[in-house]
Amino acid sequence: MRTQVGIIGAGPAGLLLSHLLHLEGIESIVIESRSREYCETRIRAGLLEQNSVDLLNDAGLGARMNELALPHDGVQFTFDNTYHRINLTELTGRRVTIYAQHEIVKDMIGARLQAGGQIYFAAEAKEIGALDSAKPLIKFVHQGAEKTIECDYVCDGFHGISRDTMPASVVRGYDRVYPFGWLGMLIACKPPSHELIYSHHPEGFTLFSMRSPEITRAYLQVPPDDDIKNWSKDRMWSQMRKRLGKHEGLELQEGEILQAAITPMRSYVSEPMRYERLFLAGDSAHIVPPTGAKGMNLAMADVCVLARALIAFYKNNQTHYFDSYSEICLGRVWRAEHFSWWLTTMLHPFYDASPFDLRRQIAELHAVFGSKAGQTLVAENYAGLPIVNWRP
Ligand code: FAD
Ligand code: DHB
Repeated sequence: MRTQVGIIGAGPAGLLLSHLLHLEGIESIVIESRSREYCETRIRAGLLEQNSVDLLNDAGLGARMNELALPHDGVQFTFDNTYHRINLTELTGRRVTIYAQHEIVKDMIGARLQAGGQIYFAAEAKEIGALDSAKPLIKFVHQGAEKTIECDYVCDGFHGISRDTMPASVVRGYDRVYPFGWLGMLIACKPPSHELIYSHHPEGFTLFSMRSPEITRAYLQVPPDDDIKNWSKDRMWSQMRKRLGKHEGLELQEGEILQAAITPMRSYVSEPMRYERLFLAGDSAHIVPPTGAKGMNLAMADVCVLARALIAFYKNNQTHYFDSYSEICLGRVWRAEHFSWWLTTMLHPFYDASPFDLRRQIAELHAVFGSKAGQTLVAENYAGLPIVNWRP
């Protein structure tokens, strides 16, 4: 098998890259270890920055999103028995939008397959080879048979095999594990507000998001090694109620908890994001804790930088964008790493916090959310930093 760009992983990163390249007449093959159904139903992120929404529209992927998505002009916070709303539109001129990651993935897979794009599902990439030659290889297993794709460039959208491929002397990883996780729930009930609510409470953080006006997506801070078996439905409801607190206009209605699972939280950056003809994009290069919803948006921002580099090469024979890929992405990545770390550490009480630590944290929340300058800093990062134009 032979293609121009070999892509590992049919997540938002790999699929968007394949789609943008196709729009410019560049061929790619996507290798995905899971089934199509699994990719199209896996519950993950939900919040899109304005630039991500604009990008999906610009790329012709916005039809279902424009029908189903929920745009928000603001975001709400509660702590220390107080309520604060940040008006994103007023402070930044931008909004955020709720549209589930698996719906985006569905839209992207649909668009690629309709255009005759090649995606191999249930195909696990095993090895990336010959990276220092002009024809790198991806070895994968599909339907029990070993196969090889020869390509000009490789994009790895999944952490794992490319990290093993890059020499240890070249790569450096930066890691932070948090001493808590999130218990994520999908609930058949109206969300307590039409906007997202992030709540700090001495017993733990909670977030109320949504997937539709009838479906709530909520998260509770839990110890990192907690077991879902420790969480009866009653305990989930009583903690959600307690941590949200009582605030005028915020009403938590009960409904069936359709799904619940615990996810660990970590920050991770792998530098550089390029080695020879291999490019890392999205989660393969960086992980953020979910507070602030940067993961999927960052993946799409990387892809814009990579698509521009590949298009400039195939259309104009320019290679300078390849050389700046890692540096350009990492500037934005580290800003998002900082913001996600900051929101996480500001909104989650640490289980070993002293009474001083807790009071200091609450003072920080008042300092940030009680000031226009503080709210603007949160709003600018939350609504999203600029992304590059993928057209060179
Ligand atoms: P992925 O979506 O992970 O795509 C990589 C793909 O590669 C996957 O489809 C995987 O199956 C495939 N793959 C793996 N190994 C191989 C292999 N060897 N060969 C071929 N294919 C392979 N972000 C938020 O902003 N908010 C959230 O609430 C949120 N919740 C999350 C919950 C969970 C459980 C997880 C895991 C992540 C969550 N994230 C969240 C992060 C967000 O979903 C990711 O940042 C986003 O998926 C990044 O997209 P990606 O394309 O880079 O990677
Ligand atoms: C969602 C998840 C987040 O981590 C976040 O900060 C906002 C929204 C969500 O799943 O809807």
